[in-house]
Amino acid sequence: MSIFGSIKFVDLKQHNMQNITYNLSDIKERLHNSKAVTVLTGAGISAESGVPTFRGNNGLWKNFRPEDLATPEAFKSNPKLVWEWYDWRRRTLSTIKPNPAHIAIAEIEKRVKEFTLITQNVDGLHQLAGSKNVIELHGNIWRVKCLSCGRVSENREAPIRILPYCSCGGLLRPAVVWFGEMLEDNNLMKAVAAIDKCEFMFVVGTSGVVQPAASLALRAKDEGAFVVEVNIERTPLSASVDETCLGKAGDILPQLL
Ligand code: OAD
Repeated sequence: MSIFGSIKFVDLKQHNMQNITYNLSDIKERLHNSKAVTVLTGAGISAESGVPTFRGNNGLWKNFRPEDLATPEAFKSNPKLVWEWYDWRRRTLSTIKPNPAHIAIAEIEKRVKEFTLITQNVDGLHQLAGSKNVIELHGNIWRVKCLSCGRVSENREAPIRILPYCSCGGLLRPAVVWFGEMLEDNNLMKAVAAIDKCEFMFVVGTSGVVQPAASLALRAKDEGAFVVEVNIERTPLSASVDETCLGKAGDILPQLL
């Protein structure tokens, strides 16, 4: 499976139902002995801050269809609906703060020589927690892109005017990556470079069903990194990683410091 494809769901069908026990002090030691560390995060890391995840019982995709809200075709046919949904998410996020898991990751970055955080999240909570070297694979909800002149700019209005327009007169869209779109080349190259040289990787709060992000964890494993997953449940990635720590990211990650 190529990492360089558009965003899509892929079921890796690798569920392994064994019970997992993990040794936190061993993980801690490996982390402390690693000079290059990469972390991949998904919506689950922001769940304890009150941000809804996409999948699962209370996930956004239970009540909304990604085809109607998170594809370029959806935006073309009904930009107002898509903007209303993003406006609702932006208003929710505007009152939300990072949680102990975001803070622990920012703290790990300070202690490691080479550190890269790759996030699928668009909420900006990692940066608010103090993370510096962040690759936002799926963009950022607080940025907008003009469909006419292509300019990307920060916009923190919540509520945002529906529909928002650029000073050039073009319609603005959220600067996020939708299903069917390619990730920004530069972001993906930087992510792959970080993966290829890391000795230790955390995969936190992601269901591991959206590509190419999920493949990054498998690639790290293939390239020889020690890969530790942190999730409240097993995922299709669990069978391939070295350890799965079952539990809340906000409980587990601070214990590693
Ligand atoms: P998902 O909603 O698919 O998965 C969230 C994961 O977090 C699940 O595996 C949960 O078990 C786990 N989780 C929930 N609470 C947790 C907690 N407190 N601690 C640890 N884990 C927890 O979110 P993503 O994997 O990020 O893309 O989804 C990937 C992409 O699909 C998103 O970036 C988004 C979505 O559709 C686009 O919109 C393009």
